Amino acid sequence: MSKSEPIIARGNKVLFGNYARFPLAIKKGRDCRVFDWDGRAYLDFVAGVAVTSLGHCHPKVTVAVQKQAQRLVHCSNLYYNEPQVALAEALVASSFGDRVFFCNSGAEANEAAIKLARKAMGPSRFEIITVRRSFHGRTLTTVAATGQDKVKEGFNPLPPGFIHVPFDDLDAMAAAIGPQTAAILVEPVLGEGGVYPPSAGYLKGLRALCDRHGILLMFDEVQTGVGRCGTLWGYQHDGAVPDVMALAKGLGNGMPIGALVATEAAAKALGPGTHGSTFGGGPLACAGALAVLQTIQDDPWLLENTRAMGAKLMAGLTALKARQRRIIDVRGRGLLLGVHLDGPARPVAEACLTRGLLVSLVGGGETVRFSPPLTVREADVDDALAIFEKAVAETAA
Ligand SMILES: Cc1ncc(COP(=O)(O)O)c(C=O)c1O
Repeated sequence: MSKSEPIIARGNKVLFGNYARFPLAIKKGRDCRVFDWDGRAYLDFVAGVAVTSLGHCHPKVTVAVQKQAQRLVHCSNLYYNEPQVALAEALVASSFGDRVFFCNSGAEANEAAIKLARKAMGPSRFEIITVRRSFHGRTLTTVAATGQDKVKEGFNPLPPGFIHVPFDDLDAMAAAIGPQTAAILVEPVLGEGGVYPPSAGYLKGLRALCDRHGILLMFDEVQTGVGRCGTLWGYQHDGAVPDVMALAKGLGNGMPIGALVATEAAAKALGPGTHGSTFGGGPLACAGALAVLQTIQDDPWLLENTRAMGAKLMAGLTALKARQRRIIDVRGRGLLLGVHLDGPARPVAEACLTRGLLVSLVGGGETVRFSPPLTVREADVDDALAIFEKAVAETAA
C-alpha cells in the first residue's frame, strides 16, 4: 500500500465532501513539482490553481515569511503594520490604483468590491452586471455575482441585484445598463468558466461604456493577476484601466491573501466602519506577498518566460489538436490555457495524474486547464505535452 492511501482514507472520514478531490496526498513541493508521500514527483500544471506562480516554496518568499514569523504574526487593523503598508505601496506603484484594502481570499476581495460599488453609487444604483460563465467566489453574494447556474444550485434565495450578460458582447452589455446600474464586474480572461479570453478591444469597450454611464468598471483579477497572463495585471493586455481590481491567488504564492485595489475616488466610498477583516492584511501574509511582487519586479525574465512558455504550450496544444480528434478548442492567454474536449475531461486529468502530471478541470468539466508556475521550463512543457497527448489518446480509445 502507498503511504498516501491512509491519509486519503483518513481525510475521507473526517473532511467535508465538498471537493471532487483526486487520489493524491501531497507531502512537499519544489518549484514546478510536488511530491507525494512515497516520494513520487508530479509536474504541477495546476500550481494550487494559479496560486504558486513563483513555484512551490520559492526561497525569497519562504525567507520573508520565516523572518516575519519571528517578528510579528498578527496585528489588528486597529493599528498599522509595516508589511501591510509596504505591500499597499508596491501595489499602488505597479498598478492604476491609489489605495488598497486587504482580505484573505478572492471571494472576499470581490465581496469588498461589490460593497464598495453599492456604497459609492448610492441606494438607487445597486445593480452589478457580470457575465455568463464568470466565477467570482463561493460566498452567497459572490455566488449571486457568478454567471454559472451549477454554482447556485440549492442556495436560493441569493442576494438580489446581479444581472448576467453574454461574455465578449459589448452590445449586450450596453443594453443591460440602466438607471439602477452601479458597476460592471468582469474577469479579463474567464478562468473557472472554461478559460475564455475576450476579443481585442472588449475590455476597452467596457471602459468606454462605464465612462459614458458614470458607473464603475471592476476587474476580477483573482486568477489573471500577478503575471499569470504574461503582463503583471491582466487588464494591461488590452490597455483598459479599471476603477477597482480584485486580487488573491498568485499574490501570496500560497500565503492566504486577497486585495482590493481602487482609485482614490472609488476607495473613499468605504470609510471608517463600513468594511473590515480581522486577518486581512496581516503582517505574515503581507510579508510573503511583498516578496512575490518584488521578485516579479526585480526579475523581468519571469514575465518574459510566462509569455514564451505560454506561446510554446499553446503551439504544442494546437498541434495536438490536429492529431487528437477529442480536442475541439485550445484557448487562453500567457500561462492560463484551456483545452476543450468533446466530452468529460476528468478521465484525461486522471490519466495525466497516473503519468505524473497535474492538470485541473474547468467549464462544464470538459475543459482541461493548464496553469503552471511562471518559472516553468521548456523541458517541463515538452514533458507535459507528451503526457497530455498520451492521456487524451488513451481516453479516446
Ligand atoms: C476569477 C476568480 N474570482 C474569485 C475566485 C474565488 O477566490 P477564492 O477561492 O480565493 O475565494 C476565484 C477562484 O477560483 C476566481 O478564479
